[in-house]
Amino acid sequence: AKEPARVLVTGAAGQIGYALVPMIARGVMLGLDQPVILHMLDIPPAAEALNGVKMELVDAAFPLLKGVVATTDVVEACTGVNYAVMVGGFPRKEGMERKDVMTKNVSIYKSQASALEKHAAANCKVLVVANPANTNALILKEFAPSIPEKNITCLTRLDHNRALGQISERLNVQVSDVKNAIIWGNHSSTQYPDVNHATVGGKPVRELVADDEWLNGEFIKTVQQRGAAIIKARKLSSALSAASSACDHIRDWVLGTPEGTWVSMGVYSDGSYNVPAGLIYSFPVTCANGEWKIVQGLSIDEFSRKKLDLTAEELSEEKALAYSCLS
Ligand code: NAI
Repeated sequence: AKEPARVLVTGAAGQIGYALVPMIARGVMLGLDQPVILHMLDIPPAAEALNGVKMELVDAAFPLLKGVVATTDVVEACTGVNYAVMVGGFPRKEGMERKDVMTKNVSIYKSQASALEKHAAANCKVLVVANPANTNALILKEFAPSIPEKNITCLTRLDHNRALGQISERLNVQVSDVKNAIIWGNHSSTQYPDVNHATVGGKPVRELVADDEWLNGEFIKTVQQRGAAIIKARKLSSALSAASSACDHIRDWVLGTPEGTWVSMGVYSDGSYNVPAGLIYSFPVTCANGEWKIVQGLSIDEFSRKKLDLTAEELSEEKALAYSCLS
């Protein structure tokens, strides 16, 4: 039998945490043959709620769950973890300046980076979910220099899955038959959902949809604005789909993407596709042997180029803002 893997979930008492921890305990993230020990971190005002989640995990009697650590202590939470899913963060509240929210998150991700660097298992894989996800991941990377940059990623798989979902609805086909959409850039409303290389049953999505106006307009906007649409409908954030997509992200990273298929991940840019190096930017990637690789050589038309650049610009600005919050 395999040794249990230790999985940290920060912000575990929150909306996404509540949807995510049972998925992890059921083997959705790491596979049905992988026992897990959950490490759940939240802040003192949420300690009681966090303990309630722990009680439910015990009550659910998950066969794969070999232990639960529920704590408000960052060091205890990070110690020995093999995977870190960073969902905790400071949300933007009405009337708050962007800079004030950024300052809070920069300080959270800076201190959690240090704790992970010192106490996590060697080769710990990190997924940042909390917004601003790309920039939080970048701060984490900067302040955990001994963690290899290839181990620090952010979640854009939800956006990727949303794109697959929209195409499947439009074409009335199974979502599992839609392949190779791409989310480029920031997990924000400037992200670029690109279906120029996407297929259904081997046929190009653009030919099957045969409506460029929709693909270049409403489709993009729907995917970009989907988070806001869910909040409007549910009065709460998209926790179910975010949790499920976080599991998809880690599972494909660890177990590999199927032959001929890529997924979208926010990763450290090496300058591929003329995206400035040194940003955490969402690219199409394939995964094998626990490592992601940016898919190379895809053609980028003029329409797409502008969109790739626009979201890169936003990320460069966010990066500058984050650095200005450090001092
Ligand atoms: P939530 O507010 O329900 O939960 C956040 C939790 O984080 C709370 O329990 C809070 O106490 C905790 N927290 C705050 N500061 C912390 C710290 N320093 N250390 C540990 N925990 C801390 O929010 P929800 O709905 O669960 O969303 C979490 C984050 O995920 C938000 O930032 C949201 O914007 C983001 N998100 C990202 C998505 C993506 O695709 N990348 C999709 C949906 C949400």
